[in-house]
Amino acid sequence: MPVPVPEGYDLTNPDIYAAGVPLAEFAWLRRSAPVFWNSQTVEDSSFDDGGLWVLSRHADVKAVSCARTGWSSQENTAIVKFDGKTVGYQEREIQKGMMLNMDEPRHTRVRGVVSRGVFTPRGVARLEDALRERANRIVLEARDKGSGDFVTDIACELPLQAIADLVGFPQEDRKQIFNWSNEMMAYDDPDFDVDPALAAAQILVYAADMGEDRQRNPREDIVTRLVAAADDEVVSSEEFAFFVLLLAVAGNETTRNAISHGMQAFFDNPELWERYKAERPATMPDEVVRYGTPVQMFQRTATEDAEIGGQKIERGQRVGLLYGSANYDEDVFDDPERFDIFRDPNPHVGFGGGGAHFCPGSHLAKLEIDLMFNAIADHIPDIAPDGPQRRLRSGWLNGIKAMPVTYR
Ligand code: HEM
Repeated sequence: MPVPVPEGYDLTNPDIYAAGVPLAEFAWLRRSAPVFWNSQTVEDSSFDDGGLWVLSRHADVKAVSCARTGWSSQENTAIVKFDGKTVGYQEREIQKGMMLNMDEPRHTRVRGVVSRGVFTPRGVARLEDALRERANRIVLEARDKGSGDFVTDIACELPLQAIADLVGFPQEDRKQIFNWSNEMMAYDDPDFDVDPALAAAQILVYAADMGEDRQRNPREDIVTRLVAAADDEVVSSEEFAFFVLLLAVAGNETTRNAISHGMQAFFDNPELWERYKAERPATMPDEVVRYGTPVQMFQRTATEDAEIGGQKIERGQRVGLLYGSANYDEDVFDDPERFDIFRDPNPHVGFGGGGAHFCPGSHLAKLEIDLMFNAIADHIPDIAPDGPQRRLRSGWLNGIKAMPVTYR
């Protein structure tokens, strides 16, 4: 049942997602206020423009994502909310070192260095055997423990190990990367008493050291590729370090949360878990990403006056792309609140609405989800919840911090 959203409602308020995704409010927005003025205070968001327009319909999210002109990821970054108490203009400027927050031509140049070869379906397929072995090992180690936290024992491990392999972090440093990326993203969660800027600075120094090392000892990894591009002056050494930072964060938090949401969805739908174990449909990973939508919203800034659904958007105003709602749009998905691992087609926007910034890690993420659930089904088919999950407090990430389970 749709629940009306009052004026002044802030969809980037972290308390909302700490409690759960407000699907009933999203349903009302799609129907009654598909271009909704979302108020934000500077203390809560770090933005001093009063708020942003939130787009909740699938078609609108796609249209803005795919538009070639008129919208910027750079002007105010793609992040809809920072910690207004600690993050000011200066810190937001620093975020523009990541390609997520760049516009062309700089974005095209930086993205081009790594998108060829590494993130293509063929590039990812090359990793499959090694990742399958890793997935099996992760699950077998958990099984030996008998019970534990699904998030730290299972969900976070394969994304971390994969990024370590791909980027070239030594595996023994992955817990450190895990901690840094948590600290960067969890600025709204009181469980993490951390300084996100410090964590970012630490990853940047770490990346710069790695870059120096690869200059002397080149390897088959992204860092070596980026160092070579830096030598050719295709990317600057600063862009290189930021790229490593973005990968460490973007590749970890998102995929980990997708796997945790997928497991929870199977717990909530035991008959579907039985069917999954018997049939292993290739359509499962996309549905896990749609249903969980780990990134609930990113934003763009209008670089010219625009109109969406009859609403005027002024140049300089921000527009939120509410993927979490678009992925439940009944105009596109039959029975959207049903977890349906056989859903096909599944044109979800969990990896973005298409266009220049579409997630380059989508093939890798889907492979990781596929391998993890296959390993779970093979080795701990009777896995069961063992207490309530704890949700992340964030204004735009749908995250699970802990999920007690028994491994059977
Ligand atoms: C389930 C897992 C994942 C989800 C839900 C996800 C989601 C997203 C979304 C929504 C975007 C932004 C699209 C836009 O602004 O239009 C994005 C961009 C990005 N993602 Fe992912 N992602 C996931 C996994 C990964 C992985 C595994 C990697 C890397 C190994 C990765 C790397 C990136 C990068 C580098 C960008 C920025 C691309 C650009 O600005 O051109 N992501 N992702």
